[in-house]
Amino acid sequence: MYRMNEELIKKTDTSYQLAEQRAAHYFHSLYHQVLNKTYVPVLIKDFQSWKQTHIHHHPILSIFSRKKKKNNSHGYYNYIRWLDYTGKLDNYLDRSISYIYMRDLGKALDSLDTQSRIRRAVDNLRKKLTDFQKEETESFSMASLYRWAQREGIESTIIWLLDKLKTVSVNVPEGMDADHAQRKLIKIIAGVIMHVVDDMDNKVPQEERKQRLDKAIRLGYSYGLTYPFIDDLLDSNVLSDLEKKRYSQLIRTTLITGVVPDLGKWTGENENLIQFIHSELKDAYEYIKSEQLPETLKSFFEQSYVFFNSQEVDREKDLTESNYTNEELYIPVILKASSSRLIVRSVISAPEDEGFDNRTFFYGIYNQLADDFADMFDDLKEGAVTPYTYYLKYHTERPDLINPFELYWAVISHLIHNVYYSDKKTREVILDRAINGLKRFKVRLGTEKYNEVMNLFASGIPKFNQVIQKMVQKADDVDFFDKLLRDHMITSLKNERKEQEDFLETIKAVRIQINKTLRISNTENVPLLKDIIIKAANYSLEGDGKRLRPIITWVMSVNEYGLNQSAIIPLLKSLEYMHTASLIYDDLPSQDDSSTRRGRLTVHKEYNIAVAELTGLFLTQRAIEEQTYLDEFDAKTVLRLIQYSAQVTEVMCMGQAMDLDSKGKELSHEQLNLMCFYKTGIAFEASLIMPAMLAKVSESEMEALKKFAYHAGIAFQIKDDLLDVEGDPSIIGKPLYKDSENKNSTFVSILGQEGARKEMWEHYCFAIEALKEVPRNTSFLKHLMNYMVSRDH
Ligand code: IPE
Ligand code: IPE
Ligand code: MG
Ligand code: MG
Ligand code: MG
Repeated sequence: MYRMNEELIKKTDTSYQLAEQRAAHYFHSLYHQVLNKTYVPVLIKDFQSWKQTHIHHHPILSIFSRKKKKNNSHGYYNYIRWLDYTGKLDNYLDRSISYIYMRDLGKALDSLDTQSRIRRAVDNLRKKLTDFQKEETESFSMASLYRWAQREGIESTIIWLLDKLKTVSVNVPEGMDADHAQRKLIKIIAGVIMHVVDDMDNKVPQEERKQRLDKAIRLGYSYGLTYPFIDDLLDSNVLSDLEKKRYSQLIRTTLITGVVPDLGKWTGENENLIQFIHSELKDAYEYIKSEQLPETLKSFFEQSYVFFNSQEVDREKDLTESNYTNEELYIPVILKASSSRLIVRSVISAPEDEGFDNRTFFYGIYNQLADDFADMFDDLKEGAVTPYTYYLKYHTERPDLINPFELYWAVISHLIHNVYYSDKKTREVILDRAINGLKRFKVRLGTEKYNEVMNLFASGIPKFNQVIQKMVQKADDVDFFDKLLRDHMITSLKNERKEQEDFLETIKAVRIQINKTLRISNTENVPLLKDIIIKAANYSLEGDGKRLRPIITWVMSVNEYGLNQSAIIPLLKSLEYMHTASLIYDDLPSQDDSSTRRGRLTVHKEYNIAVAELTGLFLTQRAIEEQTYLDEFDAKTVLRLIQYSAQVTEVMCMGQAMDLDSKGKELSHEQLNLMCFYKTGIAFEASLIMPAMLAKVSESEMEALKKFAYHAGIAFQIKDDLLDVEGDPSIIGKPLYKDSENKNSTFVSILGQEGARKEMWEHYCFAIEALKEVPRNTSFLKHLMNYMVSRDH
């Protein structure tokens, strides 16, 4: 297969062996503590002081406070509000941020510098969270992310990232969890950003701050990619055994040589997937390498290898094999847990820091055991070997097996007293976290199952168990913001995905319905030319149009205003006729001179210019005629609608005239906006305002819809301008490069592609923000915006 340099392999193996020795040493010291139970009296004493601030004698309050968590975003906001109201928010954030400083940033909490950083972070976060005006602007929306990017001046980076995240989520194969992959990636990126931000103070000049953030995001993505596409992929059943073998060999080679080898011919079912992953990983490793200092590059690849190899060792374990030793079970756990965190520092080329390295090395297994505890039954189902699943299965026949729960507490004691030198704050935070983990587990599994688990795992330490159980029952104020955020993020991403699926289904189904109604029939005995006109009209209507305008109208009318589906059919037709007419004119030689549209020849090419002109006129008039068939609505309203509709067409004409007049000119920003609103935005406005008129909504709602349509329309046109230069000719259904051929003044010609993209996102944000003023369920319109900016035709 791949030929590797023998010496390199040897070197890498040696560094793995060194890491293994260190882990073995650590493991044995923990092992002795478990055997001699030396940690028990130490922790009992710790709990005695800890409980002073956690066991309150307000039974009513504690019952109340225990059932506050709900798994939806309301739960999230309400919970923060409740904390604020009861005066607990500050403590809550302090404990949460301290924990993150310890776990993710590898800090010691007794340092004054760290304390003041934590204080600052808590104050900032509290301010943000208690700005209840702003709260419901979902914390993970693309709009709020982009707004943040604008404040930091890193718009291009975020546009790049959004694009990447989309590609990843599209390419995650079915046998893997796309939400989970996305969440992990985001988490890793956030982790890297955190390290970088923590290394910067207020004195870093803005330009440098921008560069560092840009780098952090790209590095975070590059490194984060390895989670879904190496670890999770190999854990899943997507690849065949043979493919897995070949794939992991490829990764091994990469980590040993520092170069992603060529893929060569891939045999197996997943050729496309592997090709995609291979090219993404190649870019990712190239980027990481290009940004690394030579001295940290080596440690990056070494740690990555330790991480990968320890995972592989774990992965190859088989739950039916009954002879694993304690060392075999725990040493890879120590290695993978610590190396995954150590890598983050080396990814950003952080200078050596012995304190960080040590703390992180000892810390890792604590986290891993807490996770494995929480997941033990899922892991068991999947047949995964973790210290907990293995103990569950073999504890009776293998009395020599270490009890992982006992080891977990030994780790805690070791951390508090040996690694963090009995620091009070550290003790506080770690014990909070440990008790919180048990409480969460108990809620999730129910008391009965929880008691069973405790009987099994804690029967060897009855006295200590009593203490723990009392804490689990009585102690309060042990919850953490990152857990809340995680739950909130999981629900948000899930909802988002579900909404998006609904959106796509809706537009697909409604489009089919609309397509059925568009055809203009020719039953009357009409003169020849009219026959041609109807044919030409139908010809252009039959093309592969997206039907966005009537779809918007349908969804608002039926789903939001409760109008009768059949009553609005004339309106749907009318909108598509107006729009189609505008395209026929737009394509004429006197305008954009375009030869294809909706995947076929333009009307003037298929017929001739005169027919095209007459068909355009015919369709605009037919649009008005259709409006007069809206006979289930009162006449005054329909008249108002027709008046508005005529004005819309007038505005579009002016927009097209402006567009044609702009040839070879440098339009100002303002003129560009106006032109795009006139030629494109107004038709989207019409698709929202016309049903709103029929439903007689309030003036203020109309205003909000107009504001939304204005920005949505411009964003849509900018995307159209971008597609003109970067679209896929086989998908787009119309010729590329028309705008430059015609010397049109567009967002792209004036601002360049990157500038146009930023402008598009700016209008995207404005549109999304405008939705707050629309007193309806706006999820469709939100997803419409997502669709508009990410569409490929
Ligand atoms: C194209 O509109 C004209 C512009 C306003 C940019 P669409 O992109 O909605 O075209 P069809 O109806 O799907 O063909
Ligand atoms: C068209 O703008 C606007 C109309 C409303 C007709 P473009 O000229 O950019 O539309 P395409 O690219 O030809 O569809
Ligand atoms: Mg045009
Ligand atoms: Mg055109
Ligand atoms: Mg165009």
